[in-house]
Amino acid sequence: NPFDLVVRNARVATASDTFDSDIGIRGGRIVQLGLDLPSGTREIDAAGRVVTPGGVDAHCHLDQPMAPPARMADDFDSGTRSAACGGTTTVIPFAAQEKGQSLRAAVRDYHQRAEGKAHVDHAFHLIVSDPTPQVLSEELPALIREGYTSFKIYMTYDDLKLDDGQILDVLEVARRHDAMAMIHAENSDCIEWLTKRLESAGRTAPRFHAHSRPMLVEREAAHRVISLAELVDVPILIVHVSGREAVEQIRWARAHGLNVFAETCPQYLFLTAEDLGIDDDYRGAKCVCSPPPRNKANQEVIWNGLADGLFTVFSSDHAPFKYDAPEGKKPGGEEVAFRHIPNGIPGLETRLSLLYTHGVLQGRITLNRFVELTSTNPAKANGLHPRKGTIAVGADADLVIWQEGQRTIRNADLHHDVDYTPYEGIEVQAWPAYTLSRGEVVWDGEFHPRAGRGEFLRRGRPTLLPKQAA
Ligand code: URP
Ligand code: ZN
Ligand code: ZN
Ligand code: ZN
Repeated sequence: NPFDLVVRNARVATASDTFDSDIGIRGGRIVQLGLDLPSGTREIDAAGRVVTPGGVDAHCHLDQPMAPPARMADDFDSGTRSAACGGTTTVIPFAAQEKGQSLRAAVRDYHQRAEGKAHVDHAFHLIVSDPTPQVLSEELPALIREGYTSFKIYMTYDDLKLDDGQILDVLEVARRHDAMAMIHAENSDCIEWLTKRLESAGRTAPRFHAHSRPMLVEREAAHRVISLAELVDVPILIVHVSGREAVEQIRWARAHGLNVFAETCPQYLFLTAEDLGIDDDYRGAKCVCSPPPRNKANQEVIWNGLADGLFTVFSSDHAPFKYDAPEGKKPGGEEVAFRHIPNGIPGLETRLSLLYTHGVLQGRITLNRFVELTSTNPAKANGLHPRKGTIAVGADADLVIWQEGQRTIRNADLHHDVDYTPYEGIEVQAWPAYTLSRGEVVWDGEFHPRAGRGEFLRRGRPTLLPKQAA
């Protein structure tokens, strides 16, 4: 038999086209497209259904070690389970270097964390927090050559942040070795100064987290890193962009011909600062993430950027902490000052359905743009395209077969190990009927576990744009 599986009568959507086709799959890959393919060992009837490439979530945090007592709720088992059930077939979490640690040691540690656990394919971005001469001249270039072709750097958080000189050094390595640099852009000193003022006024409830990180803090850092990247002459990707002020900086950079890419996330479309609590309600800790969600007007700015091409990538920034747990949003079991609440919210499983429903079905973005933002561009930005991120002969058979129909997001239906979802109660009109990972059904309304089936992906160079002239 030429096919292990034929997905029949699909309405196939890629980043550039929509067409009716059968999808012939053998050995985990797409081997033929066209109508009236011969029958396969197995058949799935997709008549009337949209089929997209599996989601590529290029920004999520799984099992990343934290300062005690904080601990991430999802490891590679529960995190990739949740991904599969929401239509995501590739995840790229972070291997974070601790200050004083070698990058190699961080990478080894993450491979051990993923070993035997992942249900879908995965890679690691590096987090560079200690750019020693050894890291800059040897470790980072060697790891890039070995297929870790992207890294994140932070402008805030004491245990991760780099100063401007260090950022220039690291960006120079990205330029020389053709890697993708992801930037967390927030001004650390402004945040600390504001946090101390809020604390001395007794303003420590979760909602003051948003007051400690107003948009200008993100705008200043975005402007600064754009300048640093211009000086080095290297593309950058500014991650988790939250609202108007950072967007204005990115539009300015683009208008001046700079290769500044931008990512946004569901929290900036579906949450506002009010979700951090009315009065001093501690349950607002559930939505404490950085940058914080803004307001309705800023949600519209983000929607416009998704529609008009400003944004390149739509990721979850899944950073899972339980709410009612001493290792989560209540450190040591206590309601603490916002400074001590672990930053981050879950969103791996709900990312695609939220954007499909509120973006595509509500007419804000096209189906092809949805595919580009959630699968094709993240694959290109991370050297995984065309193996990942498209439906084409030769690509991995990572597919989502969509079903339309009313559904309400309930944490009880999700597959992560977090005790809440920030999107509880939001209506969606589309959800994966099937998720296929390399031709295997991992989700068909129930999860089909096989921990360890997910492969580590050695990546190529980013292919978002032709390489810049020197
Ligand atoms: O609050 C957030 N976003 N936590 C995750 C870490 C990060 O900076 O992306
Ligand atoms: Zn970040
Ligand atoms: Zn993140
Ligand atoms: Zn089944």
